[in-house]
Amino acid sequence: MNHDELALWSKRAADWARDYHATLRDRPVRPDIAPGDFRDAIEAPVPQAPTPVETVFEDFTRLVPDAMTHWQHPRFFAYFPANAAPASMLAEQLANAMAGQAMLWQTAPAANEMEALVIDWLRDALGLPEGFTGTIHDSATTATFSAVLTMREKALDFQGLGNGLAGGPRLRLYASAQTHSSVDKAARLSGIGQANLVKIAGRANDPLFSMDPDALNGAIRDDLARGFKPTGVILATGGTSVGACDDLAACIAVAKAHGLPTHVDAAWAGSAMIAPEFRPLWAGVDQADSVVFNPHKWLGAQFDASVQFLRDPGPQIATMGLRPDYLTTQGAGDVVNYNEWTLPLGRRFRALKIWFLLRIEGLEALRTRIRNHVAWSVEAADAIAALDGFEIVTAPILSLFTLRYGDDDTTAALLDAINREGRIYLTQTTHEGRFVIRVQVGPWDCTRDDVMAIPEVLADAAAKLRGA
Ligand SMILES: Cc1ncc(COP(=O)(O)O)c(C=O)c1O
Repeated sequence: MNHDELALWSKRAADWARDYHATLRDRPVRPDIAPGDFRDAIEAPVPQAPTPVETVFEDFTRLVPDAMTHWQHPRFFAYFPANAAPASMLAEQLANAMAGQAMLWQTAPAANEMEALVIDWLRDALGLPEGFTGTIHDSATTATFSAVLTMREKALDFQGLGNGLAGGPRLRLYASAQTHSSVDKAARLSGIGQANLVKIAGRANDPLFSMDPDALNGAIRDDLARGFKPTGVILATGGTSVGACDDLAACIAVAKAHGLPTHVDAAWAGSAMIAPEFRPLWAGVDQADSVVFNPHKWLGAQFDASVQFLRDPGPQIATMGLRPDYLTTQGAGDVVNYNEWTLPLGRRFRALKIWFLLRIEGLEALRTRIRNHVAWSVEAADAIAALDGFEIVTAPILSLFTLRYGDDDTTAALLDAINREGRIYLTQTTHEGRFVIRVQVGPWDCTRDDVMAIPEVLADAAAKLRGA
């Protein structure tokens, strides 16, 4: 394929994409296929001779979409969204066309300087203080891993990088049980170890499921008494399971009293902070050392784009950065090389889709979208509470709530029936030892009718289950 043919097929692809999105409501959100079915459909020996583009394109349209879970479906209420606004998709096409590498300033000056600009824009949009700077990672997992490695090195006076961890103090991290598994992964892979990630109990009767700041203080004191080395505190704003929000002001005050760095995981909920009325959920965030949020979740910047704000990037650069001779920028003094802020060397031009998104949509429209999702989720939860046999287990935190229908087995059977039918897609979690169904309202293209389909589908599925 040459670039003339690429131009032709890109137009075909754009037409296909428009039709795909226009007809998403006609598809089940999740395909009802068994593992291995799709591989069987495409099984073939490795091609030795060229296949006409027409054939490959036709195979794609015939086979692939029907075997995909449709994340852009307006009734995708599972997990968290991975919203792709059309404006961000357009930017991705352009970034792909240039196929650059944004690892150093000189390898992609526009990408590098646009990254700095959109970080400032997002910092202001979320109401964070001016002192914060930051970078764009691929994922919140990478951002949290980078933050934890930085905590480790701060605790070790930056000696772990050279000497390793053997013979050093026993490092301890603190987080609530509501934090995402990426925190456990960071503890495991940083060499700190799962056993040294102390899960702090929740505060009693707290509708936001914050960790208990007094319990945090007690755990740090106990560790100090045992000769362990407290290393850092990881906090949640909008935990994955039920949307838990730690009391950042109180917990960060405890961390600071012990001289510990803090990292806030607001991967999902961070997008909502463009609307000032939601900011009480993370009151105190201005005191954090590091904050991650994923514009690729609720905001609409196509996957992948995860922003980490840093009060002072110095310790993270000292931890993650390496500058061999072949990676210096000759003749330019004070430039930022973002690869030194993160794990991989090669980096995609992710700032472009954020720049397109913010300029083409504008913050006010993005706020309206998120406000609608929150309001509609409350309306849907109220309608479900009024249905026979249903219980709202956790009330909406932003646009996430959980529910049950009878015991664990019946709730699981109901969820399975709903997802097999495909009008909506929901997932599950465990809350206080019970199996619950999660509902999260966030699809870019969803309407109030799409959201109010949730109680309707639940009622239909329950009636069928009762009939059976
Ligand atoms: C609260 C939270 N943190 C972190 C993550 C991990 O995100 P990523 O896929 O960007 O690594 C998720 C994923 O859903 C999440 O919900």
